[in-house]
Amino acid sequence: MKSIITHVQLIQKYLDFFKTKNHKVIQNASLIPQNDPTVLFTTAGMHPLVPYLLGQKHPLGKRLCSVQKCIRTGDIDKVGDESHHTFFEMLGNWNLGDYWKKEAIEYSLEFLTKILKIPKEKINITCFAGDKDSPKDTESAKIWQSLGIKKDKIKFLGKADNWWGPAGKTGPCGPDTEMFVNGFEIWNNVFMQYNKTINNRYEELKQKNVDTGMGVERTLSILNNINDDYLTDAFLPIITQIEKLSKNKYGKNKDETRAMRIIADHIKASVFILSEKIQPSNTEQGYVLRRLIRRAVRYGRLIEIEDFTSKLVEPILSIYQDDYSELKQNKNFIVTGLNKEENQFKQTLNKGLNKFKQFANDKKISGKEAFLLYQSFGFPLEMIVEECKKYKINFSENDFHEEEKRHQELSRTFSGGRFKSGLADQSEQTTKLHTATHLLNEALTRILGKGIKQRGSNITQERLRFDFSFDRKLTEKEIKQIEQLVNEKIKENLSVVRKEMLLDNALTSGAQGEFGHKYPNIVSVYTIEDPTEKRGWFSKEICTGPHVKQTGEIGEFKIIKEESSAAGIRRIKAIIG
Ligand code: SER
Repeated sequence: MKSIITHVQLIQKYLDFFKTKNHKVIQNASLIPQNDPTVLFTTAGMHPLVPYLLGQKHPLGKRLCSVQKCIRTGDIDKVGDESHHTFFEMLGNWNLGDYWKKEAIEYSLEFLTKILKIPKEKINITCFAGDKDSPKDTESAKIWQSLGIKKDKIKFLGKADNWWGPAGKTGPCGPDTEMFVNGFEIWNNVFMQYNKTINNRYEELKQKNVDTGMGVERTLSILNNINDDYLTDAFLPIITQIEKLSKNKYGKNKDETRAMRIIADHIKASVFILSEKIQPSNTEQGYVLRRLIRRAVRYGRLIEIEDFTSKLVEPILSIYQDDYSELKQNKNFIVTGLNKEENQFKQTLNKGLNKFKQFANDKKISGKEAFLLYQSFGFPLEMIVEECKKYKINFSENDFHEEEKRHQELSRTFSGGRFKSGLADQSEQTTKLHTATHLLNEALTRILGKGIKQRGSNITQERLRFDFSFDRKLTEKEIKQIEQLVNEKIKENLSVVRKEMLLDNALTSGAQGEFGHKYPNIVSVYTIEDPTEKRGWFSKEICTGPHVKQTGEIGEFKIIKEESSAAGIRRIKAIIG
């Protein structure tokens, strides 16, 4: 199948269009949100803009646009149809307190009809129906009508459909208006006019933002009249390779087609996560990665392929390597990571199958046994169901879910504090931990040597976690020295100052950036000033913030754990009291 418009062309058209409307293109940010403790992955183009949506001035101005790589796992169960994905690219344009509904809607319609040449009659619109928090959005509907969208093409829906955010518990949010073509939602204009407070009140925001998001894959499939994202050039090379490996024909059989889509999606997402140097593990991003690879392997069994995951790397790179240099750079790491995880899972599955046979001796599997298979043997529920069917074994999925619920209640205790997705929880505590992270980063360099490089940072309400390159365990003495130095700098109550600088100037002035992270041309730099030093500062980092004003606000710093995170990378967890 030949695409009429490719994903690269669509992206180019979008960015070019918004450039003509005076928008500046911002860099594609990492999939791992920097300094956002509330989410594991960048879930939308607005993610890197959180501080600016909350009022901070953006160095590139008020009109911005981007294409952003995103991962969303909330809909993982829907992956397998023609339009859901865990990894996708999102196009977006933003206005930070400048234009509002009229311009946003005009731009959207102009882009859809004039640039993408979608006939107006094919476009359906939804607007917010109104509730106790916010009135009906007749303003947006009127604008659409004034631009030639017929009244009967515009529907009003409630919060579940036409409201976006806050992504966390609190923060900017508002009604949205969505654009549908052939029944698929392709674009969303969010009018961020409220701040949801902790007491569930919606306060009017001083700065009204427009936040829009267009899914690249869905839009491509519509534009190419395919109505199946997996047949666009964003997927086709992967599907073709799966066809070759499995000798199945895509589209011929429903279950096999579903399996092929899941495999293509999950391995694509895994390749992108691995390209950020994340390895499969049992926590956080590493756990999501593990789940994606294992689920793909499991679906591979359905279409009778094994040892296949790394064979999809080439086709995935053929689609994306020109736009994401981290893919080519880390190709070996990606291939090794996939092979290792696939092998390990194969062994686990075999053990699980043996255990399953033992449990199934009496021709039934209890909820407890099924949950054990699931949790300790990595045996997916679908597989338990299938095996039971195959061998005519009694099993109730409900019993499994009962058992699962009990375990979830337990584990909720551990995951408290992490919201599902979205805006940073910029509370006082996380702000303090954030500045403490900068002090720690510098203290590590001073105590362990200049070769130390930040390889990841994650902050929750309770603790900071910092990954850095270093090839051995730290000694007790080194840990004490690091703690002491950080606490000394806290006691000295140093000033923390933010400044916008050209990236080159920031780097030559000694500001630290994260290894492998792409930065825009103008960056914000946080300096922890120290008049006793010749250069005038203790630490200087490229960072979007927020930070405390004086280090004295932080309180006592304590390292609670030092461990290996991956080969050549150490991980420190620390708290403040
Ligand atoms: N944040 C909105 C979304 O993710 C618009 O970009 O749909």
